[in-house]
Amino acid sequence: MGARLRLGVNIDHVATIRNARGEGYPEPLRAAELAIAAGADGITAHLREDRRHISDADIVALSDLCRRRGRPLNLEVAVTREMLDIALAQRPHAACLVPERREEITTEGGLDVVKGRAAIAPAVRALRDAGARVSIFVEASADQIAASADVGAAVVELHTGAYCEAVRHGDVARAQNELDRLRTAAADAVGRGMEVHAGHGIDYATVREVAAIPEVAELNIGHFLIGEAIFVGLQHAIGHMRALMDAARLDAMRSDSRT
Ligand code: PXP
Repeated sequence: MGARLRLGVNIDHVATIRNARGEGYPEPLRAAELAIAAGADGITAHLREDRRHISDADIVALSDLCRRRGRPLNLEVAVTREMLDIALAQRPHAACLVPERREEITTEGGLDVVKGRAAIAPAVRALRDAGARVSIFVEASADQIAASADVGAAVVELHTGAYCEAVRHGDVARAQNELDRLRTAAADAVGRGMEVHAGHGIDYATVREVAAIPEVAELNIGHFLIGEAIFVGLQHAIGHMRALMDAARLDAMRSDSRT
């Protein structure tokens, strides 16, 4: 079991609320500051092609904040010329390549690295050459993990959406199957020399099993935390998530040492 599990807080949906009114508040930058104060190990933001939440100006401000506060900014972008140019100009600590369809409500699946290899490989190279740690958001499948390693990604972020959805719908068999897939993919990725992150759809009920996967080094969590912050405040929501992650890791380590 590796070092302390990191928590990246995705603040996109603070911008979603701001943009609903076209006003300047609530500010994603303020959320990022609070998240860091509450123990976030990094800030994640997705600059979408349609700018439905995070804006170009947000990315500039977040980059500056993260640099000043010594926390990594994980910039999620689609593999397009425009997004790569922005990422190359900002030189974030980390860049996560994600699929994007304009009509989707959220990032519905992983990037198909097998099919998109020809475009993804040079994007990974360019970002890596600019000093970014490159991750690719993928489904937990052996061929996507292998292709991610082939194109030179340092990190894969496993899409946890299917697992989380199955838990929320009470589909125990599907949840177990999805969890097994995540565990297998995580071990596979580490075996190929990559770091493993995980994210999408994680809430208090689903964080435990994902955090207990020993190969996972970082979780990226957004929508649930921002929603929960409406009721209990961002610092409390992050603090509670952090505590659940730590407890899950500790339990997993204890049961590991007993076997
Ligand atoms: N990781 C990636 C790559 C994502 O695209 C997203 C959603 O933007 C997340 C993590 C966070 O997902 P959620 O907002 O459901 O917690």
